[in-house]
Amino acid sequence: MQDDIFEDQNRNSSQEEFELKKSLSSALEKKIELLAKLYTEKKISLEEISLILGLEKSEVNLILSQKGVIKKKRILVGGGAGFIGSNFIYHLLENYPSYEIINYDVLTYAANIENMSIAEKNPNYKFIQGDIADYEKLEEIAKEGIDAIVNFAAETAVGRSVHGKAADFIHSNVVGTHSLLELVKNYKISRFVQISTDEVY
Ligand SMILES: NC(=O)c1ccc[n+]([C@@H]2O[C@H](COP(=O)([O-])OP(=O)(O)OC[C@H]3O[C@@H](n4cnc5c(N)ncnc54)[C@H](O)[C@@H]3O)[C@@H](O)[C@H]2O)c1
Repeated sequence: MQDDIFEDQNRNSSQEEFELKKSLSSALEKKIELLAKLYTEKKISLEEISLILGLEKSEVNLILSQKGVIKKKRILVGGGAGFIGSNFIYHLLENYPSYEIINYDVLTYAANIENMSIAEKNPNYKFIQGDIADYEKLEEIAKEGIDAIVNFAAETAVGRSVHGKAADFIHSNVVGTHSLLELVKNYKISRFVQISTDEVY
């Protein structure tokens, strides 16, 4: 008899706990809906939403992009299989879940595509093998929409420019950069960042 009473009490309190959690999560859902509406109406910023919800900006970004409030941004990264480009891609994938990254790299001797094996598992990552000087190939990607280009693709070993094939440097660093700039101009891509040093300039 005594056992039955305890069992009933336990059942009641876990039921209450369950109901409480349910109403809390529905209250949170309503709060997110309201914040999303205010964001669409440009009455609140991502920073303010992240403060209100106590979440990282990247988490807010993900929630709003899952709700279709923020459109996923497509970023073309040139030379993303190289030293700096590959680290940059991992940084974006970790911190900006609402970005889709296209790693566009021709894979010269300097590339290390094995570095990207973890990124391959991320649905926001895609690899396309291609040359930045190949304007037609770049156009195929641009037709599907690109929001920004960050270019790391270049011939980078200064010694090779003197003792090796200087033509490779002119091809990637001059013709390639020019072809990306043409793409930016013709497809009205709003951001282009050229990562470089003296070998390119
Ligand atoms: N590594 C450094 O310490 C350093 C420092 C300052 C600036 N930079 C500059 O940053 C940029 C990237 O440097 P990195 O060290 O990552 O270079 P990297 O040599 O490691 O990588 C270059 C990448 O570009 C790709 N690539 C070359 N030509 C291409 C082409 N025509 N089309 C498509 N892909 C092509 C290669 O396959 C490679 O994956 C360069 O402009 C370099 O001058 C590098």
